[in-house]
Amino acid sequence: MGLPSSLNSCFLLILLCLVNISTINSTKQEPVLFGGNFPALYVIGDSLVDSGNNNNLETRVKSNFPPYGSDFEGGKATGRFSNGKTIADYIAIYYGLPLVPAYMGLSEEQKNNITTGFNYASASCGIFPDTGKRMGKCLSLSVQVDLFTETVEKNLKKMFTNPSDLSKHLAESLFMTAIGVNDYAFFFNKTTNPNEFATNLLHDYLIQIERLHSLGARKFFINNVKPLGCYPNVIVRSEPRGSCNEPLNRAVGLFNTKLRESLSGMKKKLKDTSFLYSDYFNFILKLREPSSNQVGSSLLNATSPCCPEVYDGGLTTTCMPGSVACKVPDSHIFFDPFHPTQQANSKYATACFQERSICHVVCE
Ligand SMILES: *[C@@H]1O[C@H](CO)[C@@H](O)[C@H](O)[C@H]1NC(C)=O
Ligand SMILES: *[C@@H]1O[C@H](CO)[C@@H](O)[C@H](O)[C@H]1NC(C)=O
Ligand SMILES: *[C@@H]1O[C@H](CO)[C@@H](O)[C@H](O)[C@H]1NC(C)=O
Repeated sequence: MGLPSSLNSCFLLILLCLVNISTINSTKQEPVLFGGNFPALYVIGDSLVDSGNNNNLETRVKSNFPPYGSDFEGGKATGRFSNGKTIADYIAIYYGLPLVPAYMGLSEEQKNNITTGFNYASASCGIFPDTGKRMGKCLSLSVQVDLFTETVEKNLKKMFTNPSDLSKHLAESLFMTAIGVNDYAFFFNKTTNPNEFATNLLHDYLIQIERLHSLGARKFFINNVKPLGCYPNVIVRSEPRGSCNEPLNRAVGLFNTKLRESLSGMKKKLKDTSFLYSDYFNFILKLREPSSNQVGSSLLNATSPCCPEVYDGGLTTTCMPGSVACKVPDSHIFFDPFHPTQQANSKYATACFQERSICHVVCE
């Protein structure tokens, strides 16, 4: 049985496009997303990239206490959900930008003095407005875009008084999004129709990407949704214990496929816009395989979190103040039951930017 021919040619185009990108570093038509010179990085997302926004919100989902941050600059717990740097940090470093500060932690004076980007990401939140709200306050995707709008109106307009300078800044900046897993974590269950769920979620996601575009964003770094079915908080409950929840992974994978396809569609409409699609889903799946999770002579622990060191699938997906962590966090893929270690994040950066095996420029 063949695919409809329109689909076939679409796949062919994508393939050609990927081949092009990997063999030619820069072309005139395609703005360079690898090694591009961006004036700023704006980060939108969830706990994967939150750099401390939840510190300032009334919620149980926080990480601004030890053992979080044990390997961050000076062993500081900043509100990052890891022992060290997040993938957003590695992206900023790769592009030669400062680590992006959490918007909620800044004074008005600071906001009026930063032109290298803000981070609006908020742990426990998602694309749907109700996602994560059971746990307390957090910034949903649309609220993060509201806050970015405020940044443009209240702060950036003060620093770029000439409107064309502001447009240039926005068009040249990189907008990273990494969101959607909490929508699955909170609202997807055995009785949910995966296709309908993915379609609805994507619909809401694309509205916000279009809002960013209409505010002037032209360069996007879109991180897809992680394979939640293989995370410690899920496999601890699966049958047999320790195995990935494949139906859940398939549901997330379906969303990711639709996401990538709609980015191609958007690229077709918005010629002046570029998307880099980052396949975080397959990065984590691959990292769990013995063949690719070697560090030195030992393998990363791919099933248990570092914190808590003894994890029985308790109620939370984070570690708590006073939780006992393992001695060497970077010997694990997962720092807590829901979040990666710095080691995993660093390997992500290598796979994305050096190997270019998981990050691809999206073509029409
Ligand atoms: C503004 O930013 C510069 C560096 O970018 C810094 O040296 C200075 O202290 C900042 N001023 C305020 C008021 O935050
Ligand atoms: C499963 O999710 C659906 C929405 O997709 C919801 O209506 C239903 O209440 C949920 N069921 C359980 C047992 O949580
Ligand atoms: C992973 O860590 C857990 C908890 O420390 C341990 O019980 C398990 O044996 C480790 N797995 C591997 C493959 O090292």
